[in-house]
Amino acid sequence: MKILIVNSNEELAKAGYNWIVEILRTQSTPVLGMATGSSPMGIYKLMRENHLDVSHTVTVNLDEYINVPANHENSYHCFMKKQLFDHISFKKIFLPNGMAENLQEECLRYEQVLDEYPVDLQILGIGENGHIGFNEPGTSFSSRTHVIQLTESTRHANRRFFNHEHDVPTHAITMGIASIMKAKRIMLLAMGTAKASAVRQLLEGPITEKCPATILREHPDVLIITDQQALSLCS
Ligand code: F6R
Repeated sequence: MKILIVNSNEELAKAGYNWIVEILRTQSTPVLGMATGSSPMGIYKLMRENHLDVSHTVTVNLDEYINVPANHENSYHCFMKKQLFDHISFKKIFLPNGMAENLQEECLRYEQVLDEYPVDLQILGIGENGHIGFNEPGTSFSSRTHVIQLTESTRHANRRFFNHEHDVPTHAITMGIASIMKAKRIMLLAMGTAKASAVRQLLEGPITEKCPATILREHPDVLIITDQQALSLCS
């Protein structure tokens, strides 16, 4: 794992953006694995503002809430539209359908998408509890796309996007940990003291399903972009 220490969200955004530009420049049909949440927003802003040519690029999102319609402002579909898809035009975009009648079939469909479009660069944030995607602590390292019950800590962290605590969804559909590990390269973004405990476990703790992100130490090509605050609990 490589670690890039930055001083600000702007520096993180530039570093992440530059890596994406490089991949888009050197591949004929690059596949980007996308995350939602605060961490990648600066990167998406640069992609929008620079009108990055993504007409040859395929995107595959990590996750989506269950029972939140795609056109609802809190859906990850809507987040991605606002952040990127309404601004620059990709060749193809894929997100899990959290409204699917048969969620098990939807998980299988999504795995087929990932087989057809293997991810070249996966962007990841990290949960305060060490989750990646919505793979909460305890999720099997061999998991593929699946339905998961969100922990109270994750629901609490995501509360800021909703009007009321009870509006925060309880379940999501997420790429599994094995699905994420198939990406050729991974860029994990972790800024601020709220992530310090998760980052310490990621870098120094045992590799354990109790902290899903720790599996990334077994991936051959991971870059962590982080700051001193997030590293503050590391030795
Ligand atoms: C988002 C996702 C989550 C977030 C994580 C960090 O699609 O899968 O794992 O990346 O919860 O969220 P932020 O970036 O808001 O701190």
